[in-house]
Amino acid sequence: MPLPTPHASAPLSADPHSHASRSPVRVSHLVLELSVDFESRTLAGLATWQLANPGAGSELVLDARDLVIEGVEQTGPGLAASAPAAFELGPADPLLGAPLRISLAPGAAAVRIRYRTAPGAAALQWLVPEQTSGSQPFLFTQSQAILARTWLPCQDSPGIRFTYEATVRVPPHLLALMSASNPQELHATGTYHFRMDQPIPAYLMALAVGDLAFAPLSSRTGIYAEPATLPLATAEFGDLENMVAAAEQLYGPYRWERYDLLVLPPSFPFGGMENPRLTFVTPTILAGDRSLTSLVAHELAHSWSGNLVTNATWNDFWLNEGFTVYFERRIMEHLYGRDYAQMLQVLGRTGLDHTIEEIGPLSPDTHLRLQLAGRDPDEGLTEIAYEKGCYLLLTLESLVGRPRLDTFIKEYFARFSFQAMDTATFLDYLRRELLDREPGLEAKLRLAEWVDGPGLPDNAPSISSTRFAQVEAALARLAAGTAPTELATDTVEWSSHEWVHFLHGLPPALPADELAGIDAAFGFSTSGNAEVLAAWFPHTIRAGYQPAEVPLRKFLLHVGRRKFIVPLYKAILATPGGAGKARQLYAEARANYHSVATGTLDALLK
Ligand code: BES
Ligand code: ZN
Repeated sequence: MPLPTPHASAPLSADPHSHASRSPVRVSHLVLELSVDFESRTLAGLATWQLANPGAGSELVLDARDLVIEGVEQTGPGLAASAPAAFELGPADPLLGAPLRISLAPGAAAVRIRYRTAPGAAALQWLVPEQTSGSQPFLFTQSQAILARTWLPCQDSPGIRFTYEATVRVPPHLLALMSASNPQELHATGTYHFRMDQPIPAYLMALAVGDLAFAPLSSRTGIYAEPATLPLATAEFGDLENMVAAAEQLYGPYRWERYDLLVLPPSFPFGGMENPRLTFVTPTILAGDRSLTSLVAHELAHSWSGNLVTNATWNDFWLNEGFTVYFERRIMEHLYGRDYAQMLQVLGRTGLDHTIEEIGPLSPDTHLRLQLAGRDPDEGLTEIAYEKGCYLLLTLESLVGRPRLDTFIKEYFARFSFQAMDTATFLDYLRRELLDREPGLEAKLRLAEWVDGPGLPDNAPSISSTRFAQVEAALARLAAGTAPTELATDTVEWSSHEWVHFLHGLPPALPADELAGIDAAFGFSTSGNAEVLAAWFPHTIRAGYQPAEVPLRKFLLHVGRRKFIVPLYKAILATPGGAGKARQLYAEARANYHSVATGTLDALLK
C-alpha cells in the first residue's frame, strides 16, 4: 500500500478536547474494516492507521471512549508481518474518554487496532424499524464535536486530518453510506467499499446504514433517503445543483467531487451535518414547498468553511459556523434574491438576541473566541458562533464593500484549503490582507471587541426585511383588534418565514380563546411545516390551549431535532404542574432520541 504524503500544518494552539492532539506522532491515512451488527448494536472494527511522521516519537496517542480494544499490531520495514504492539488505555474521562497509548517499535509505519464499540456508544443511534418509515433497522453516526472516538479509535481533534478507505459489512438488504465515495445501489453481498482521498478531520467521519435508495439530481448531486421519503425529498431539493453552482461562483471550486444529501429518519438530533460529500439532513425540512432549504445551503457552504478550512479547536468554532452562515445567506440571495436573504438575516437576529439574553449579555460564552477547556464543547457551542460570527462579516462587508470582502474570502479558502485555522492565525491573516491596508479600518471594525468581547457590538449593521414589514403591519392590525380572519388577504403570499416571524411577534401570553381564533384562521396546529409548529407550540403550551396537545405530543414523540424539542420541554416545564407533564412525555419519547439530545434533556428534566 503506498504511503500518502503527510499533510503539513502550521503550529496551532493545542486542542483541550483531545488526548491525541499532544501526540508528536500523527496519523495520515486510515484503512478501516467494519462489521455492523444490529442484534448486539455494536460495530466490530479493524482500524489500520498509517503514520505521517513515525520517527517523531516512540508512542502514538489516539482518543478512545467506551471502546473495547482487543489487540494492537504494528507493521513497517524490518518488523514481522503481525508484530504485536504494547498499548495502554489511560484513565477515562467521562467527557474526553481515554488516551490510547501505543508503543512504536523502530521502523513502525502503521498500527492495526482490533476493537469493538459499546452498545451505548454516544455517536451511534441504532433505530428499530418502527423509528423509520419502512420495515428495516437503521444506524447513523453523529461525530461532531468529540464523538468520533466512540466508534473509531482516532486522533479526534479538528486540527488533525487524514484520508481514508473503508470496507463495511452490513445485513444484505441494507445500504451503507459514508462521508466518502458512495454506492448508488444495493450490493447483494452486503459489503461496501469507500474512499475519501481528500484529508478530513475525525469529526467528519460518518456512516449510515439502512433501507436507502438513491435518486440523481445532476451529474454530481443526488439524494439518498428511505424509499417512502425519496420522491418528496427529490422534489424538495430540486435546486441542489444550482446551489452548488452558486457557491462555486462565489468562493471557488467545489473540492469534494460529488455532493449528495442523505435524508435521515426524524430522530436525527440536528438540522444538518456537513459530512463531506454526503450532508446528513433532518426530514423536518421536507415542508413540501422548498421553504426550508437554506439549511442545505448552510451544510453545502461548510464544504468550504469548515471542511476545507477547519476550526483548529472547538474554541474557534465561529470560524466554521460564522463564515458558513454568511456564505449560506449569500447562496440564498444569489438564488432567490435580496428580499429572501433579508428574511433569513432577521430571523437569525431574533435567534441571536434570544441567545444573548439566555446566556447573559456579559458572559464570556458570548465571545466569538471561546474558552471551552474542561467543558463539554456540546454545551459551549451556541448560536453566538453562527449569528455573531455572521454579523462580524456583515460589518466588515459594510466597511470594505462586497467585492473586496469576496476576494478576501475566496483567497482565504484557497490559501488554507485542507488546513486547520485558529482565531489568532485568522486575525493575523485578516490584518495582513485587508485591515492593515487602510489606516483606521481596524478601529472602525472594533475587531477586538467582536472577537474577545461580550454581546453584539453596536457597529453591527442593522438589517431590515421588506417582506417582514408586511408581517409587522399585520401584527399591528391584530393588536389593534382586527379579527384574524380579516388578515387573510395580507397573508396569502406568505412563506413559512413570514409565518415564523409572525409567531415570534405575537404577544407572548395570549389566552387560549385568542389562540383558538388565530388557529381557526391560519391552521397552525395542523401545519406541515416543522419551523411553524416549533414557533407555534410555545404559545399553546403557555396558554394551556387544548387543541394543540395532540399535535404537540405527536411532534415530541416523532421528532428528535434538539433545536426544536429542548425549547418545547422548557416551555412545558415553565407551566404550573408542567414538571410532571414534561417528565411523562420525555419518558415516552426518550427512546427515540439520539444521545446528544438525551444528554441535554436528561440534565434539564433530571
Ligand atoms: N455542524 C453543525 C452541526 C453541529 C454543530 C453538530 C456542533 C455538532 C456540534 C451544522 O452545520 C449546523 O450548524 N446545523 C444546524 C443548521 C444550520 C442551518 C444552522 C442545525 O443542525 O440546526
Ligand atoms: Zn453549521
